[in-house]
Amino acid sequence: MTHAMFRPRRLREKSLLRRLVRETTLRADDLIYPLFVVHGRGVREPIPSMPGQSRVSVDELVKEAKDAAGMGIPGILLFGLPEDKDPRGSEAYAEDGVVQQAVRAVKDTVPDLLVVTDVCLCQYTSHGHCGVVEGGSVKNDPTLELLARTAVSHVEAGADMVAPSDMMDGRVGAIRDALDEGGWVETPIMAYSAKYASCFYGPFRDAADSTPQFGDRRSYQMDPANVAEAMREIALDLDEGADIVMVKPALPYLDVIARARAEFGAPLAAYSVSGEYAMIKAAGRLGWLDEERAMLEALVAIRRAGADIVITYFAKDVARLLERGALPG
Ligand code: PBG
Repeated sequence: MTHAMFRPRRLREKSLLRRLVRETTLRADDLIYPLFVVHGRGVREPIPSMPGQSRVSVDELVKEAKDAAGMGIPGILLFGLPEDKDPRGSEAYAEDGVVQQAVRAVKDTVPDLLVVTDVCLCQYTSHGHCGVVEGGSVKNDPTLELLARTAVSHVEAGADMVAPSDMMDGRVGAIRDALDEGGWVETPIMAYSAKYASCFYGPFRDAADSTPQFGDRRSYQMDPANVAEAMREIALDLDEGADIVMVKPALPYLDVIARARAEFGAPLAAYSVSGEYAMIKAAGRLGWLDEERAMLEALVAIRRAGADIVITYFAKDVARLLERGALPG
């Protein structure tokens, strides 16, 4: 060994040094916490496939929102479960829809929190697809108007940002136009740009009761095998006016996040989805993984790949841990 040899272990010996040379940070500031809201009062229904997460009514949601804000989490992402479903998903864009009520309540009571809304039809349609169904298939262009109406109704209720997750072509442009026409030029769009047709959404679909009643989502969500196409999707959404772009799921798609980081300057979000959460929770409960460490490692990996924003059901758990003294050195 020569004296000039690079000895990587020199910087690993002491915890304080490890902290100094750490390349990636994870802070409460990076997180968005997704929540499911239902009609009623005093409702807090645990979601079996997502231990620790519940469907909550608006009054309980306000408590969750206060909690999240108190922990320094900048934003929540809202999903609604309607009273009734119909073929055109009409509660999605109803003035007194569950999300619209939730947005008003949170904006009234928790001023220090961004309220982001998921814009999609699948929880609201009787067939469970993200768009209008005609002749057994999901029709793109007739869906755009309904999505735009949904986005505008969320913003009229007070939403700070809308997040279209439907994967119809042209939805970002349609929503941007509708917001601009309504005088909401300053309201940003976070687009689920590279959203894959993933089995990791399974627990979410139990939670949101949004499983398609026939077929699957492969005619609109992306093929997990593709990455060049993801770059084209992101470029298209930016062109249509997206302010933040997203890759989803996160952990099995770190290469997509890294490519997007390298190719685009726009703020990048990654959605660590319900199945990623469920896997860690399940292994933790079985005693097969250390749940806390698995959670931190997974979230740091998503940040290391290049995500600015991480959307995660672990948001409150992480924020709580980080409050107690950052990542372990
Ligand atoms: C609605 C939507 C889904 C998710 C976010 N928005 C489900 C789907 O596309 O089937 C999944 C989120 C998760 O799994 O945590 N289109």
